[in-house]
Amino acid sequence: VITPVLLAGGSGTRLWPVSRKSFPKQFAPLVGHETLFQASARRLAGPRYGAPVVMTNADFRFVVAEQLNEIGVKPAAILIEPAGRNTAPAILAAALTVARTDPQALLLVAPSDHVVPDAEAFGRAVELGAEAALAGRIVTFGIAPTRPETGYGYMEAEEAGEGPVRLKRFVEKPDATRAAEMIAQGTYLWNAGIFLFQAQVMIDAFRAHAPDYLAPVQAALDEARSDLGFLRLAPEPWDRLPDLSIDYAVLEKANNLSVVRFSGHWSDLGGWDAVWRESLGDQAPERGAVTDDRSTAIDCDNVLLRSQDEGIEVVGIGLKDVMVVSTKDAVLVAGMDRAQEVRHAVSALKSKG
Ligand code: GDD
Ligand code: MG
Repeated sequence: VITPVLLAGGSGTRLWPVSRKSFPKQFAPLVGHETLFQASARRLAGPRYGAPVVMTNADFRFVVAEQLNEIGVKPAAILIEPAGRNTAPAILAAALTVARTDPQALLLVAPSDHVVPDAEAFGRAVELGAEAALAGRIVTFGIAPTRPETGYGYMEAEEAGEGPVRLKRFVEKPDATRAAEMIAQGTYLWNAGIFLFQAQVMIDAFRAHAPDYLAPVQAALDEARSDLGFLRLAPEPWDRLPDLSIDYAVLEKANNLSVVRFSGHWSDLGGWDAVWRESLGDQAPERGAVTDDRSTAIDCDNVLLRSQDEGIEVVGIGLKDVMVVSTKDAVLVAGMDRAQEVRHAVSALKSKG
């Protein structure tokens, strides 16, 4: 069996103002009725998988427990990170935890902010990758890219085919020029952000490429304490860890990566442009205008008008390529192509206090 590791500690700042520090996007129903976190947990439940390990932080622990309970998923463990240090230490902590009982165990690390409607097709892709993972590869899942997105990782496979195929190169979040080049080259895939590997293989990859993480993460685990069914990692060594994603810390440097191409529908709801694109499917779009029951678009092209969480009503007239998201205490108005920059606005707001 494969142990899912659900990453649910991100703050999802690009989906401000709906996604807030205390209640980020993965716990809100953004597309459909279930939350993204619940959909992710459900996707990785079933005969192929064991009980999941959830990596999150103290603020979200009760939401995590409650939302899992609602869908009848019983976690193997919920680990509480003392502070958000991005995905590198979270994944290492999960690997070290599982390796204690079985270093050979297969882990499937998955984000909790994705839309992958066909869980069965995804499960088959995971099965395809299992043998390579058991042979010591870190298996990624590749998506055929459709635009020069700068918010994703890009991967070049050594050959065509569904896979698993060895990777030549992994490039995390390229700038716009580089992304356009890779798209033009036609040989790159997007990294789905989902990884399959043996616990010990990931630990060894850290030892080779990011050795500074090992001792502090191990210490945070050794000194962890149980608290109402949660395992709280010790803050002292954890807080000193650099904030880095697994993509930069390990994957860009690793030489044992393979990819399975996944051709089912996949989307990272990484920004409001993605929510807009996802929602186009289930609403009858008037020239790409996505609205909800508290917003109205008149003569608009490619707009997202959205009023959520008791937000004030929104009316757009003659707008083009714009997103407006209203909540009860904040309104975002931005160009559709500037969705990735919302995170900078949030940092700017934070420094204003
Ligand atoms: N537990 C925990 N702790 N989870 C975290 C933390 C943390 O400190 N930081 C982020 N996460 C969670 C997020 O909630 C999300 O579910 C997942 O880890 C990935 O983090 P993101 O911040 O959303 O990463 P990204 O979207 O910018 O980039 C990654 O995903 C892309 C595809 O969606 C990379 O792997 C890219 O290469 C990839 O293309
Ligand atoms: Mg993401």
